[in-house]
Amino acid sequence: MSNQIASAIAHPNIALIKYWGNKDHELRIPANGSISMTLDKLETRTTVSFNSSLIEDTLTLNQVSQNGPSLKRVCTVLDIIRKIADISSKAEVISESNFPLGAGIASSASGFAALSVAAATAAQLDLKPIELSKIARIGSGSACRSVLGGYVEWKAGTNHDDSYALQLAEQDHWELIDLVVIVEKGHKTIGSTSGHKLAETSPYQKARVQDTKRRLEICRNAILLKDFHTLATIVEEDSNMMHAVMMTSNPQLLYWKPETITVMKFVQDLRMEGMEVCFTIDAGPNVHCLCTPTYKDELSSMLQQLPGVLDVIHSSPGGAARIIPLNGV
Ligand code: DP6
Repeated sequence: MSNQIASAIAHPNIALIKYWGNKDHELRIPANGSISMTLDKLETRTTVSFNSSLIEDTLTLNQVSQNGPSLKRVCTVLDIIRKIADISSKAEVISESNFPLGAGIASSASGFAALSVAAATAAQLDLKPIELSKIARIGSGSACRSVLGGYVEWKAGTNHDDSYALQLAEQDHWELIDLVVIVEKGHKTIGSTSGHKLAETSPYQKARVQDTKRRLEICRNAILLKDFHTLATIVEEDSNMMHAVMMTSNPQLLYWKPETITVMKFVQDLRMEGMEVCFTIDAGPNVHCLCTPTYKDELSSMLQQLPGVLDVIHSSPGGAARIIPLNGV
């Protein structure tokens, strides 16, 4: 094989029911199923070029050449693609995200979804979304959801073959807005991969996992029925349950800042007054505020005025990971 190249685009996603903890850390088989909304506007573009003259895989992220753990994770995904395609060429991977790495939005979901789709096409494989989702999962758990667009459910499964994401509803099924309230731009101290390994040290993780079927069902139905009030209640409950596990792990993980709690209380008060808004928080201090389009502008300007708020980033439901023309838009 000489030079085989493809570019793909993928979006991050916000988990409405969170993935926290693994049954198998290496394969990233999650302790529980999860549901997310893929986010438009924010995106990662990745070009993979397999070339028989390369001596090793290379990775450039936002114009900075990478070594160490991030390159190793990329090589693991490339190895799976090489095995399926029965090729041995090394690859050059160039990836750019339009959201700063320090903005508190994980780029691993969009990054590994874009990598899997671009690498599969560059290796001339024609894989179905389920297969691409499984491959992306090996790179980063939440990336398996970013392969699909709109509202997505990751079926936890028990092994590599039955742990993948499926679309629950199309991107245009329900226009929810995610206002990401940035209260810290720095990198988090403990990343998700290390955090997942601590989950089982909390006595609350078992109860959280056992209760997942209930939360998934409520969330799934609320999305299908476009029932904001029910969605809001379960999304906040699920986020609080994950953070309760984080705070009671050993060592404990406390991701919130005082400003995080200010935003949480603010959102709850607004909902009491009748506004369709709720919060959810990932492994960091920034707060995702979900609302219906009616409240977007009013809410955004109110959030921007809160003390300690650095920025508010807007997203609507986004599309699936997809191939784009080389160097294309
Ligand atoms: C809190 O998918 O980032 O955002 O599989 O180790 O890459 P790795 O972890 P990652 O974990 C996401 C955790 C979360 C919740 C979620 O997105 O479901």
